[in-house]
Amino acid sequence: MALENKLGITDSSELAREEERISKAKALELFETGLPDSFEVGTFRGLTQIHRYLFEEIYDFAGQVRTANIAKGNFRFVPVLYLQSALETISRMPQSTFEEIIAKYVEMNVAHPFREGNGRSARLWLDTILKKELHQVIDWSRVNKDDYLLAMERSPIRDLEIRTLLKAALSDRINDREVYMKGVDASYHYEGYSLYRTADMK
Ligand SMILES: Nc1ncnc2c1ncn2[C@@H]1O[C@H](COP(=O)(O)OP(=O)(O)O)[C@@H](O)[C@H]1O
Ligand SMILES: [Mg+2]
Repeated sequence: MALENKLGITDSSELAREEERISKAKALELFETGLPDSFEVGTFRGLTQIHRYLFEEIYDFAGQVRTANIAKGNFRFVPVLYLQSALETISRMPQSTFEEIIAKYVEMNVAHPFREGNGRSARLWLDTILKKELHQVIDWSRVNKDDYLLAMERSPIRDLEIRTLLKAALSDRINDREVYMKGVDASYHYEGYSLYRTADMK
């Protein structure tokens, strides 16, 4: 059974396809409108703006804090009871160096504020911070899926691996359409969505 959605889809693979198609088109729109430049950078509010934009046509919970406790693998994300205060704390974390920004990204992943779509929205959020503070972005097409997922799984204990992995993929091409589109494709690929190419979503 598929996650409850606005499209009235009950089959989970059909929902996955539609979610990919619609939200990838929205991700491309984000780039083309320059809208993220008007979003808050490095706060939970900024992340909700991205999440809402990507998923508002699909889920009622777009941009909304989750109301259930969730886990992946052996890891339990922040319990609902503490989520609001964790998000306020994370929003105030410093973001002036690469190390600080990655530490903040790792904490936001530990919070995992949404029912779904945390990974894809948080990677776009991370790039808005890197872009503003360091004039760089991650070229996600240069970050291997298995390396990424393993590093994220380990990140709540130790963020050295994810830091090293992402540092090696930093790019100065901050407004490059190609880097962005390939990055979105990579980010979706990490989560098992690779039916559509962002470049074809226009
Ligand atoms: N075992 C784990 N421990 C901590 N974080 C994880 C673990 N597994 C996955 N993650 C993180 O969670 C993200 C996926 O979260 P999810 O809400 O499903 O996002 P999306 O819907 O965009 O796939 C991954 O990209 C990764 O960053
Ligand atoms: Mg997911």
